[in-house]
Amino acid sequence: MQDLSIELWGIRFKNPVWVASGTFGYGLEASEIYDVSSLGAVVTKGISLRPREGNPPQRIAETPCGMLNSIGLQNPGVEGFLLHIYPRIEKIDTHFIVNVFGETEEEYLEVCLALEDRPKIVAYELNVSCPNVKKGGMLFGHDTKVLSRLVERVKAKVRKPVLVKLSPNVGDIRTFARVCVESGADGLVAINTLVGMKIDVRSGKPDLSTFVGGLSGPAILPIAVRIVWEVFQEVRGSVPVIGVGGIYDTDSALQHILAGASAVQVGTANFFDPKCPLRIIEGIKSYMESKKVKSFNQLVGRAHGIGVLS
Ligand code: FUM
Repeated sequence: MQDLSIELWGIRFKNPVWVASGTFGYGLEASEIYDVSSLGAVVTKGISLRPREGNPPQRIAETPCGMLNSIGLQNPGVEGFLLHIYPRIEKIDTHFIVNVFGETEEEYLEVCLALEDRPKIVAYELNVSCPNVKKGGMLFGHDTKVLSRLVERVKAKVRKPVLVKLSPNVGDIRTFARVCVESGADGLVAINTLVGMKIDVRSGKPDLSTFVGGLSGPAILPIAVRIVWEVFQEVRGSVPVIGVGGIYDTDSALQHILAGASAVQVGTANFFDPKCPLRIIEGIKSYMESKKVKSFNQLVGRAHGIGVLS
């Protein structure tokens, strides 16, 4: 029997197929379509200290093999989350990771601290890479000193593992990955969206109200795989790398894994193919069977020449 379970930070996950922040709400909508507890984990939409309405419409634009979004981190705030959403997700039998957003260091910390005693939340994913907000987000992820201070400050106060979702919109992402690890991050999530733009040629105006937004979907797969590869080499196994970006089937998930991802997050594909994470779980099992690999960990980073698959 192929064993798809993984252990990260002392936590056992049923499998390495998770769903990405901002593409799955809080797991409640999809529960009407399939059993969400089949997933390895759900990463929630970014949660901030106070509720946020997000950006004005238009906030979504379709692009070749992908989409642009500029939601602006709309969310009910951490209190709203705890009051209205947490009691409902408690019933779902899988782990939840909260994507945490702040405009200041203090806000990131306060959100994490508000979640510390909630057992359903097993880790935090610091969102230092959202390109669609005027304060916080990418501003934290694009300056190594600011990033390092944030990670150190959060790590000093929380007990749960702290992952950092990296921005691909930087010169050399390896430097940022290294800084996060040196500052105490427990894991790295690569990658958030790439800044892009779409112009409506009939009106001559940009589609999105914010002009630019974050590009995601299969269009970014080769970039995400390259970055997972680079980050994996940079951190040399000191912390797990979680791959996200362009995953839409088993092959694309396996590319991330062979490049070095200890788990993967399915994102934009949830919008056009909601059951795709379930097929990927089965697809990875079949791949392991065909390659006579018993444990999932044997696949992680295999493309780095750790051993050729037969
Ligand atoms: O605009 C948004 O809510 C996107 C968030 C993100 O990319 O992290």
